[in-house]
Amino acid sequence: MAGRIPQSFIDDLVAATDIVEVIGHYVPLKRAGKEYKACCPFHDEKTPSFTVVPDKQFYHCFGCGAHGTAVGFLMEYANLEFVEAVEELARRTGREVPREISGDSGPRDDLGPVFDALDRANAYYRRQLRRHPQASRAVEYLKGRGLSGKTAAEFQLGFAPPGWDGILRELGAHEPARATLVRAGLLVAGDSGRPYDRFRDRITFPIHDTKGRVTGFGARIIDRGEPKYLNSPETPVFRKGRELYGLWRARRAGRSPKRLLVVEGYMDVVALAQSGIDYAVATLGTAATEAHVQHLFRAVADIVFCFDGDEAGRRAAWRAAENTLPTLKAGRQAWFLFLPEGEDPDSLVRAEGREAFENRIGGAIPLSRFLFDHLTIGVDLSTPEGRARLVESSRPLFDRVPPGPYRRQLSMRLAELSGDASTIAPDRAPTRRLVHPTRHQTSETPVRRAIRMLLHEPSLAAHAGAVAAVRGSDIAGADLLADLVETLHARPDLTTGVLLERFREHQWSRWLEVLAHSEPQISDPEGLREEFVGCLRLVRERVGRHQAQRRLDELKKRHPSELSDEERRELTDLAARRSRNRKSAPRPDD
Ligand code: UTP
Ligand code: MN
Repeated sequence: MAGRIPQSFIDDLVAATDIVEVIGHYVPLKRAGKEYKACCPFHDEKTPSFTVVPDKQFYHCFGCGAHGTAVGFLMEYANLEFVEAVEELARRTGREVPREISGDSGPRDDLGPVFDALDRANAYYRRQLRRHPQASRAVEYLKGRGLSGKTAAEFQLGFAPPGWDGILRELGAHEPARATLVRAGLLVAGDSGRPYDRFRDRITFPIHDTKGRVTGFGARIIDRGEPKYLNSPETPVFRKGRELYGLWRARRAGRSPKRLLVVEGYMDVVALAQSGIDYAVATLGTAATEAHVQHLFRAVADIVFCFDGDEAGRRAAWRAAENTLPTLKAGRQAWFLFLPEGEDPDSLVRAEGREAFENRIGGAIPLSRFLFDHLTIGVDLSTPEGRARLVESSRPLFDRVPPGPYRRQLSMRLAELSGDASTIAPDRAPTRRLVHPTRHQTSETPVRRAIRMLLHEPSLAAHAGAVAAVRGSDIAGADLLADLVETLHARPDLTTGVLLERFREHQWSRWLEVLAHSEPQISDPEGLREEFVGCLRLVRERVGRHQAQRRLDELKKRHPSELSDEERRELTDLAARRSRNRKSAPRPDD
């Protein structure tokens, strides 16, 4: 476990993030005055009520109540964990996420040395490709496949020399370095006790994680032989069913491709990139898993799966389709591209070039088409039996799609094909509770109203005065109000979005978000300020009354004979004040 991310970093990051750009990457936004609008990606609608407010760095939907910051959007829409969302924004703004050094994180698995070994091994293999006396076979082989030196360098291709102890001698002269190399999958432990190099006489393809760290290697035999590729084994940092070759490179240094092309082989990714199609990634010889697809959809809204046109390709495509269904949310789309039999992206793009290949990508069929094509293979829809069979084979698949517009579209198409209207499953409403913005409710307490105004216009904090005295009462939200005001006194530049991020961990953070997306209904700055100052006055009075009441109760509990003269006077005072208050008009906030 890494340490905490410092708050100041998150503040700055959210402030530096263009929320319109982040959301616009997934949802087509249209400008409307100072705001941006779109049909809400969190519920199904025809007229846009999803609004992004760049000034506040905040989005909200009047239809379903969805709301939040850029961090929140990535968490909700792209399914990221908080830390992942922060890392994603950091990547987009070209920042490194700092970690506080935490002393109390307890014993932990330190992977630093494993990453370090992999990084050094990568450098070693790359050096060998340039210098090793036997590297010329590898170089010739790559050239023979049409690869330029530039591409080889970009993909950090290397050469694991023949022999059993290249890496061993280079990086594993002593224990405990050897143990680390075994953990990293670079050495095989060996029965006789002496470890030896895993990759020998092969071309190495380093595999990077999203942070650009090497997690493992694929290693191709030069020319012919078995196995063609040897991959790193499962290690603490390498899980074959999750790795995506080429993803880091496709997205490095602030690049944000709109779509990703999923191909089958390392060489496909490399050859495509050399031809100018630099948004291809590959799974490592397995069909795309759900983890893969989730990972891909966090990066882009459109995925194009590319397969060989043969039987094996169709099977792999079906597996990918099945694993895509649970990940579908509004805005996400998956496409399927089948190549002519006997061709792979590598051979095809070299033969026909970038433009022709991109035309193929443009002609990929949508997932729904692929699903129905596949489900109706050998089914005679002109018979009741055939139509019933279609319904039966479709149902378990469509049940895997999260409720929403996409699932409804599938059901409707199924109804059309099968003539069975009952297949249009009643769709659950959006999972969020409907939250209607409160329109200037007179019953709103001054605390709540002050907080709402502050979230709407953080600069109001300058007019709040000292708020320490507001703390410690039992009035709901008063401490939170004081926290907000004092946060803004310390950092007057915080926008609504940054402020909300600050309070993400607060027990009332959801409530704050709800308040942030309904406006105080006062447009002129003068009026807003007066109202705010007025609310704070009411809060102070109320806190004062509560404290007086508490003191009164305390004094009354004691026997009069126990009270000092001073306390007795206080008691009379407090009692008189209370009866005065009682006689005045009842207050809405009492
Ligand atoms: P391919 O044989 O299609 O790979 O296998 P490729 O990259 O196109 O190979 P060449 O160099 O052009 O001949 C697809 C993927 O399956 C995995 C690798 O990840 C490979 O890129 N694979 C294949 C293995 O892990 N081991 C193997 O022996 C073969
Ligand atoms: Mn190939």
